[in-house]
Amino acid sequence: MNKRLINIVLLGAPGCGKGTQAAFIKEKYDLEHVSTGALYREEMASGSAIGIEAKRHIDNGHLCPDEMTLDILSHHIQSHDEVKGFILDGVPRTIQQANMMEGKGYDHIIPVDLVINLEIPEEIITERLEKRSKELNRTDDTPEVIRQRIIHYNNLTKPLVAYYEERNILKNVNGAQTLENVFKDICAVIDAELERLAK
Ligand code: AP5
Ligand code: MG
Repeated sequence: MNKRLINIVLLGAPGCGKGTQAAFIKEKYDLEHVSTGALYREEMASGSAIGIEAKRHIDNGHLCPDEMTLDILSHHIQSHDEVKGFILDGVPRTIQQANMMEGKGYDHIIPVDLVINLEIPEEIITERLEKRSKELNRTDDTPEVIRQRIIHYNNLTKPLVAYYEERNILKNVNGAQTLENVFKDICAVIDAELERLAK
């Protein structure tokens, strides 16, 4: 990652729009989009040992183990070392994962320059994911599993907001707007950060 421009973490509850906005960011800023959820879904589709292990957690709405998650993430990052930077969609998702990415108790440092926290009320999450379940057929979009994913988000992932606020790299964006307006706000945040990094 010698010529690295910026690594951006997209943080937020299930269904807040991380994957949707990551695709727009990738297109505009030419960054590599990496979703640990999508990497796990590929492993599950291929029937690999990682996929079989991941399925046990994902289909119950639980998080996958930190070590396994960092391993598939760093493997993906190492195999894309010529890109300008990464959009990290849905990772880190625990304080432990964030610590590991800083090299605490883990071999591969994954630097984070900017964290965009997509804020969204819980009612909208459920509405969006139940609608998506009819379109995409994701095995974790059933009402009971969605409820469980939200509980884990509140207990395990939300503390990352304070973690990154302390490091002065967190920006909040209102995720409950139209796709276009969420993206407009995200671009304003990224452009300001790129300007700051260029100084
Ligand atoms: P993951 O795939 O990351 O799922 P998630 O975090 O639950 O988030 P989603 O992908 O469901 O939602 P999203 O925020 O991407 O929203 P989207 O853009 O799709 O992870 C799945 C599982 O893998 C986890 O539960 C866990 O088990 C495991 N895992 C993954 N990473 C892990 C990690 N780091 N550690 C441990 N375990 C991990 O949008 C949702 C819907 O809303 C779409 O239909 C979209 O079209 C619609 N929509 C989006 N924006 C808008 C808008 N502005 N207005 C109207 N509709 C909108
Ligand atoms: Mg997603």
